[in-house]
Order: sequence, then structure tokens, then C-alpha cells
Amino acid sequence: RIVNTKEMLLDAQKNKYAVPAFNIHNLETIQAVVETAYEMRSPVILAATPGTFQYAGRDYIQAIVEAAAKKYDIPIALHLDHHEKFEDIVESVELGTKSVMIDASRLPFEENVRLVKRVVDYAHAKGATVEAELGRLGGQEDDLTVAEEDSFYTDPDAAAEFVERTGIDSLAVAIGTAHGLYKSEPKLDFERLEKIQEKVKIPLVLHGASGIPEEDVRKCIERGIAKVNIATELKIPFSDALRKYLLEHPDANDPRKYMSPAKQAMKRVVREKIRMCMSENRF
Ligand code: 13P
Ligand code: ZN
Ligand code: NA
Repeated sequence: RIVNTKEMLLDAQKNKYAVPAFNIHNLETIQAVVETAYEMRSPVILAATPGTFQYAGRDYIQAIVEAAAKKYDIPIALHLDHHEKFEDIVESVELGTKSVMIDASRLPFEENVRLVKRVVDYAHAKGATVEAELGRLGGQEDDLTVAEEDSFYTDPDAAAEFVERTGIDSLAVAIGTAHGLYKSEPKLDFERLEKIQEKVKIPLVLHGASGIPEEDVRKCIERGIAKVNIATELKIPFSDALRKYLLEHPDANDPRKYMSPAKQAMKRVVREKIRMCMSENRF
């Protein structure tokens, strides 16, 4: 059964590890993630952006994840990543999705609160949990591109008020990470994260974890991060392995053959990231 992310994130917060949220796009990437999570007995979140649903279909992704959740006895959640439209969230929740992110971080504070609160009221009535973002990450995730100069960090006092007024279940923070890879290694604002953790009691979420060294992610986990989002670092090994196979086998045309090395390469990175999050053997 697909679960919401309430219990898994509270358990992670309490026991100082993080649940990894891996962005998936199709059957093969879902299989790579859940097979590895199952082998390592790790709870896992499968994250899908609006762009992914546009590509693969909300009904197809929902059905594949439901099949996976039936097959493997670990906590598996399907999570709507960076959703900006109330209607899109409704569509997935009606199909059975139990975990959503409403990203209204582009809006001014009061409007952000209003839209998030509307999603929380709706989602909670359906047994679904809600993540929202205060502050704004730079970089690119799907169709969402934020220039460096338009990004800004999360203010701890505003975060406390935001959580209080919206009733969200988890908060995505901006402390120096960005979506995608980095030109130079980012400097994270751990002090800010500590202040946020002091004022906000719900689990915190780190976006943009691709390119962040393990020791920095661990420092974030010590300071209240209970969910770590990883997208780009999984896309790279998948496509690299696929490209390599096709170049070495110019006559290959069987997806069952050329997809296999891509899945294997992705599984290796999923394994590393589960270790990084210390979510292994939790169930
Ligand atoms: P990265 O692509 O940097 O891993 O960011 C992932 C993310 O935050 C998905 O929401
Ligand atoms: Zn993100
Ligand atoms: Na990143």
C-alpha cells in the first residue's frame, strides 16, 4: 500500500536519519529505486514533477508505484514534487497519491500562506501529507528555472509563522543548495538551519542534494533535515550507461537489453545515496 510521508518523516526526524526522495520518470527508474530500497530495507519516496506526469501520465505513474508498493514490504510513498497548481494536486490525490508538495515559493508571503493552507485543508481531509517551501532555491528542476539573483534563503522567524499558519507536515528550506549540479562547491548555511530547527518542530526537507558532499548532507541531517531530494545525480548514470551501451552496440534495438545497464548504473547511485541518508535497515 502506498503510504503518506507522515510516519516515515517523523521516524527519520526522531532517529536522526533522512528518507531519500528520488525523482523518477518511468517504469525503469521506478524499478531501479524500489528494488534498491527493498534490498537495503530503506523507506523510500518516489518523487515526480509536473513535467514527469506530463511525459508519463499521472494514471500510469500511480499504477506502477501502487504495483511496487504491493510487491515490496517497505514504506513506499509517491510524492508530488514542485507542484504549483491546486488542480494538478487534486487530480493525483483523487488517483490515490498521499504526499504532495505545493511550491508557492514564487509568491509573496501572504499569498504563499493562502495557497498552501488551501492545499493543506484539502489534502489532510484525504489523508495526504503536505510539504511547502519558504525561501527559494536557485537552479533548474524541469520547467522550473530560478536565476541565482532571484533565489533567497529561508528566514527562521518567517518559517515558524509559515508552519503555524499553514499546518503543513514538512518544510522545504533554502540554505544554499540549488537544483542541478554546482559550478563551484556550495557553502551551506548550517547556522541558519540550526535556527530554523529551533523554531520549527516539523521535519525539514533539503532540495537540490545532487552535488552536495556526503558530510554536508550528514550535517544537515543532524540539524533536522528528514527528507533529502535527489534528481540530477540519478539521471546522469542512467543516461551515461545507456549512451555507452548504444555506442558499443550500434546495432542494438532491444529495450530489454539497452535499458538494463542504465538501470544497474542508477541502482549503484541509489545505494550510495541511501547510505548517505542512513536510512538503511530501518524496516
Ligand atoms: P537535484 O537535481 O539537485 O538533486 O535536486 C533535486 C530536487 O530538489 C527535486 O525536488
Ligand atoms: Zn526540488
Ligand atoms: Na543540486
